Amino acid sequence: NEIKLDIMKAAQFLNTDAVTALEPEVKKAHESLENGTCPGNDFLGWLHLPSSITPEILADIKATAQTLRENCEAIVVAGIGGSYLGARAVIECLKNNFEELTPRILFAGNNISEDYLSELTAYLKTRKFGIINISKSGTTTETALAFRLLRSQCEEQRGKEEARKVIVAVTDAKKGAARVTADKEGYKSYVIPDNVGGRFSVLTPVGLLPIACAGFDIEELVRGAQDMEKLCQTAPYTENPAEQYAAIRNLLYRAGKNIEILANYQPKLHYVNEWWKQLYGESEGKDNKGIFPATVDLTTDLHSMGQWIQEGERNIFETVVSVEKSKYTVLFPHDEENLDGLNFLEGKRVDEVNKMAELGTQLAHVDGGVPNIRISVPELTEYYIGQLLYFFEVACGISGNLLGVNPFNQPGVESYKKNMFALLNKPGYEAESKAIRERLNK
Ligand code: PA5
Repeated sequence: NEIKLDIMKAAQFLNTDAVTALEPEVKKAHESLENGTCPGNDFLGWLHLPSSITPEILADIKATAQTLRENCEAIVVAGIGGSYLGARAVIECLKNNFEELTPRILFAGNNISEDYLSELTAYLKTRKFGIINISKSGTTTETALAFRLLRSQCEEQRGKEEARKVIVAVTDAKKGAARVTADKEGYKSYVIPDNVGGRFSVLTPVGLLPIACAGFDIEELVRGAQDMEKLCQTAPYTENPAEQYAAIRNLLYRAGKNIEILANYQPKLHYVNEWWKQLYGESEGKDNKGIFPATVDLTTDLHSMGQWIQEGERNIFETVVSVEKSKYTVLFPHDEENLDGLNFLEGKRVDEVNKMAELGTQLAHVDGGVPNIRISVPELTEYYIGQLLYFFEVACGISGNLLGVNPFNQPGVESYKKNMFALLNKPGYEAESKAIRERLNK
């Protein structure tokens, strides 16, 4: 069983044979990934990562997670962008909507909010906590700031020796502050391979360690990704979900649909949306090109963005991640007075109502001129989430090649950092500081 892609309700907006006709281009784009001839080919370590993960690697990650689980009431995962969103996406998908995990998994280092950090450190004051410091470069301001604060608090609360046992670094093999500190302090550490970029790193310890700390089954997650790796590598064009998804979204883009909205009907998928947005946004938005990745949580956002999607500018298409099977059963209740007129739904599974909302919305959006792609996930389990994430990664690589960009760099991310450092008078930025001040004082 696997996740399935249905592009029928998107392809109907294109010429009849458009998807078929794109096959040679898509195959070439996929082959250039496989052969390592595409732009950014020094960042292809993620492509066959799932099949390279051994039981020994997983056992080691699980052992570290166990140490943290046994010694912590809370584990703070410090990281941003690709060093953050994959772990959060998987954990939020699998955890109960309301009950806290034990130990609690908290996220930091993904903003520069003083109030966030103040409330976090206050919350941790009375709790035994550990830290997973995740940064490939080891110099990212948001993460470094959080780590400075958390590390000294952890050492203060537990003593330096004890703190060492519950601080783990996931970073570059040699360079960056996180590596130097980890080696100097003797923290357990994991390497983010040089050839795996942040947003493609969820199946490295970047994602696997926090997910294991949350108590979820990383073997199953990896098994799902491995099965999807096989499928994407071997399936013919018409049955290859990654190739089909890359094809249809590029055809729609070429037809003027330059915004893709990823939608879900399960609140637990909110952070999968966020992870996807980063993956596609950072990979494709460059050289003045790229589909703008937007996200909605439905049916919630039908009461906010629903109007825009139905009747706004017709430059959008929608991709729905649909979960086939709910974990629990809740029936629509009876009400004696029936003031809301909903007794006709009495006794029906809530999921059936949700599915009809989904189908009704799909038909309405298609009628309204919004091409609709559907990705159907059998259940929200580690195995299928592993499939889903890896599917999106391969499709992203193919899609970026089809678009003609280097999907594996992110030069644009540096611009805000340059200005911020100039404004903050970072040593070495004297000329930039002077220039930016003159510009602001004009
Ligand atoms: O995908 C990427 O490369 C980025 O989003 C990075 O993951 C993000 O900027 C964090 O970088 P680092 O891990 O170096 O702290």
